[in-house]
Amino acid sequence: MSFPQAVQEAWHMVALARDLRPGTVRKVMLCGTPIALFRSERGIGALIDRCPHRNYPLSEGRVHQGALECPYHGWRFAPDGSCTEIPGCPLAAAADPRLNAAALRVAERHGAIFVTLSDAAPPEPPLPPDFGSPELDHFWWQQGTWEGRAFDAIENVMDPFHTNHLHHGFIRRRDRRLAVDLVVTSHGDGIDMAIEQTQPDLGLMSRFLERDRQRSVSRYYPPTTVQARWEGETRLTLCVTAIFTPAAEGTFTPFARFSTPKGIAPGWLKQAAIRLFLAPVVAQDRKALARQHAVMTQFGHPQFTSGPGDILGSRLHRLWRGETLEPGQEAPVKAML
Ligand code: FES
Ligand SMILES: [Fe+2]
Repeated sequence: MSFPQAVQEAWHMVALARDLRPGTVRKVMLCGTPIALFRSERGIGALIDRCPHRNYPLSEGRVHQGALECPYHGWRFAPDGSCTEIPGCPLAAAADPRLNAAALRVAERHGAIFVTLSDAAPPEPPLPPDFGSPELDHFWWQQGTWEGRAFDAIENVMDPFHTNHLHHGFIRRRDRRLAVDLVVTSHGDGIDMAIEQTQPDLGLMSRFLERDRQRSVSRYYPPTTVQARWEGETRLTLCVTAIFTPAAEGTFTPFARFSTPKGIAPGWLKQAAIRLFLAPVVAQDRKALARQHAVMTQFGHPQFTSGPGDILGSRLHRLWRGETLEPGQEAPVKAML
C-alpha cells in the first residue's frame, strides 16, 4: 500500500453513526485494511476483518450478547477484541490473548465513527472548527465509496478553477467570470485559500444559497479533511466539512457535513435545498475523479503538470505526506473565477 505513514497513522472517519444500528455489523475499508465494525450493547467494536481462528471474515458474523460472533465456528469477540466464547469448549478463566481478534481504537463523535489503524494516533480524533457547534444546524451526506484517490479528491475541493468549467452553471460560469483575489495562508500543519470577491458567484447554487457572500475560505486539515466556509457581510452562511477516507489504493469514501446558522429557514428545508443543488455538482466531481483515475491507471502512474492556477503547487501533497509548511500569508493573486 502506498499511503504515507502520516495517513496510515491518522484517525479516519469510516462510517456515519446512523449507518451502524445497534446489533449490526458492517465491513468498512481503510487504507486497504478491511475492518468489521459493529455496535453492541457493550459499545462499538472495530476488529480487523479476519477471525484469528481460521481467518473467516468477521464482518459476515452477527452481533450477539455484546460480542461479534464468527459464522464459521462461532468464536465470539468483545468490542475490545477479547475472545469471550469458544462454543463447545470451556474457556480458561485466565484469558489467552492469542485467541483475541485484533481490535482498533474507535470513537463516535457528532454522528461520525472514527477508527485508527495505529497506536501512534493521538488519544482523540482531531476535529475541525464548528464540527459540533450547537449554534449551527448540521447534517451529514454520504454516497458510498468512490473510484479515485483520496488525495485527488482533496485537491479537487481545494481547487476553485475547475468550478467554472466542470460545474458550469451550478457553482460558477465558464463564460462569465468574476475578478477575485486569491489569498493563501499557510498554518504550518495546514493551508487555506480565501477567495475574496465583490459579488456572489453566478452559478445557480450560489444565487439560491448564499446571496450575500463576500468571501469563502477552504482550509485543508491534513491528512483527509477540507473545510470550506462561506461568509456573508456579518457572519458564516455555510460551512462544509468534507472528509476523504482512503478505502484502498484507488478508492475512497467521502463524507460531507453541512453546517448552517440556525435561523429563519428550518434545518430540513436547508438540507433539502442543499441536497437538490449539490447533487449534480457531486455527480460531476465523482465522474471526474473516476475518469482521472482510469487514465492514471492506464498509464501506470499520475504525471501532473501544474499551471498558473495551481497556486497551492506541491504544498497539498507535502501536507498529505505529513510535512509541515512555513506559516505565513502570501500576497493576493488576481484571477478570474
Ligand atoms: S474461523 Fe472464526 S471461529 Fe473459526
Ligand atoms: Fe468540484
